[in-house]
Amino acid sequence: MKVLITEAEIQERVCGLGACLSEKYAGRPLTVLGVLTGSIVLLADLIRATSIPLRVALIEASSYGETRTEPGELTINIGLVPDLKDRDVVILDDIFDTGNTMVGLYDAVQSFEPASVQSAVLLWKTDRTVVDLQPDHFCFQIPDEFVVGYGLDYNDEFRNLPFIGIPNEEEMHEAVKGQGG
Ligand code: IMP
Ligand code: MG
Repeated sequence: MKVLITEAEIQERVCGLGACLSEKYAGRPLTVLGVLTGSIVLLADLIRATSIPLRVALIEASSYGETRTEPGELTINIGLVPDLKDRDVVILDDIFDTGNTMVGLYDAVQSFEPASVQSAVLLWKTDRTVVDLQPDHFCFQIPDEFVVGYGLDYNDEFRNLPFIGIPNEEEMHEAVKGQGG
C-alpha cells in the first residue's frame, strides 16, 4: 500500500493538536466527543497528548451510500452522548471530506446546549468540501484520494494500520471478498 502519511508524521501532528487544545481549553469544562468509529485511534492518541482535565464522550455517525467510498444518507446516534450542557465540546472525527457529517454533528450537539462547539479532525480533504463550515483544527490537508488506516476504513477494514495509506484496487477487492461482502 502506498503510504501517504507515516506513523511518525501522525504522532508529531497529533501531539501538536493535544498541546494546542490543552492551551486553549485550560480551566474550562472540556468534553472531547469522538465520532464512532473512525476517530477511535486518533481519540486514544490525542487525549494522551493533552495535559488538562477533560471528559471523553462518544457519538455515532454513519452514512450508507451506494458504494463504500462515497458517502450516502447520514445517520447520527446520540444514544451514547452524556450531558453536555454548558460544557465546551470538541467534536473529533477522522476526516472532513464533503463536510456534511460535521454539519450534522454540529446540529446534533447544539441540542445539548453546550457552552461552545469546535471541530477537530486528522485529515481535511479540502478539494471535496461542499459546506460553509471548515474544521477548526486539523492535522493534515490531503488531496482527493481515498485513504485508509489510523481509524479510517474501507468496508470496515484497514482501521488498524498505524499510517495513512492509499489502497490499490487489489487490496480493496480483497477487503470486500474477505468478508463475503
Ligand atoms: P463527509 O463527506 O465529510 O461527510 O465524510 C463522511 C465520512 O466518510 C467520514 O466521516 C469518513 O467516515 C468517510 N470518509 C470520507 N473520506 C474517506 C476516505 O478517504 N477514507 C475512508 N473514509 C472516508
Ligand atoms: Mg467516519
